[in-house]
Amino acid sequence: MVPSGDPPAAQRAARGDVVVLGGGLVGAACAWRLTQRGHRVALVDPDPGGGSSRAAAGMLAPVNELRTGEDDLLALCLLAAAGFADFAAAVTSTSGLPTGYRECGTLAVALDAGDRARLSQIRSAQQSLGLEVEGLTGRECRVLEPLLDPGVCGGSLIRHDHQVDPRELFSALWTAGQRAGVEHVPQLGEVLVQDGCATGVRLADGTVRRADLVVLATGAAAGQGRVRPVKGQILRLRMPKGEHVLQRTVRGLVRDREVYLVPRENGELVVGATSEDRGFDERVTAGAVYELLRDAQALVPAVTELELVETMARCRPGSPDNLPLIGFGEVEGLLLATGHHRNGVLLAAVTAEAVATLASGGTPSPEIAACSPKRFQKAAEGE
Ligand code: GLY
Repeated sequence: MVPSGDPPAAQRAARGDVVVLGGGLVGAACAWRLTQRGHRVALVDPDPGGGSSRAAAGMLAPVNELRTGEDDLLALCLLAAAGFADFAAAVTSTSGLPTGYRECGTLAVALDAGDRARLSQIRSAQQSLGLEVEGLTGRECRVLEPLLDPGVCGGSLIRHDHQVDPRELFSALWTAGQRAGVEHVPQLGEVLVQDGCATGVRLADGTVRRADLVVLATGAAAGQGRVRPVKGQILRLRMPKGEHVLQRTVRGLVRDREVYLVPRENGELVVGATSEDRGFDERVTAGAVYELLRDAQALVPAVTELELVETMARCRPGSPDNLPLIGFGEVEGLLLATGHHRNGVLLAAVTAEAVATLASGGTPSPEIAACSPKRFQKAAEGE
């Protein structure tokens, strides 16, 4: 999957100049892969890794993030999950840095009888799609995670929904990109379109970077009509050394509300997240912090003893059908890599691979072809 070594400068120039606008996980992964394929790449972002990638919990969760009727998204997420270990290993081998990738599985739990009924319905739907999900009693859940509240009355074990540390992954990916020759331009920028064709990026200082191809990876800030901001508020707590309250990711239904707790080996415990359709808003509210802690504590009472080290709000880039937008749209020379909504971390690698393939005129896999931004044009024409 990973080409070995980086191409010489002459080859890079021959393959064309690319500007990647947006330096979150998706943009950084695209920049790295494009450089590996021989392109000369500039990545434009005033604060790389500071957007939704910084807030993300890092759940690699094709099964747990599945919503009914999202077959194309499921296929894409399963493809991404199958290749994630190799991607993380390649990033580490190029950068020399860890990514926090952990194959620890996920336990979904229910707090009351209504939650248990809903979880059971969700499990039946997952199993009917051939996904590997095991039903557990409350007692069996507590054997796996002894600090769960005695009120937890049932669960589902999803052995293949793993996790990565998005902040470690970003640092490693950034280093890999820098080593491969990605140029960082620390400014805001906007796509320059002339005669219906993207010709480069106008930077905040007024200068223009010309490019043969522009990759738009600005997440919720993409402003591409179809992408909308979906606010997520999220907390980071610290578990004492040697006293981890959880061993694996726990997702809970708490009186019909959803909460997740993602423990890391370094002692961090991520608790998330709200999902709010209220436009671009990065304020942390007292109500959200209260509700997240209340629901986390209902599942794992020991949470209240932990140090609260960070609160954060960022916007996920939502799309109308929850599938990302990957590919060429209406503007020639503009490749979209956005709209990843709740799965940006998981999908960063497959997106980057697809962008590199499309940039060199190749044909992407069917899972990626389903993400073509042109699907919205076709839908509008059919109306
Ligand atoms: N994937 C978890 C979230 O978006 O909150």
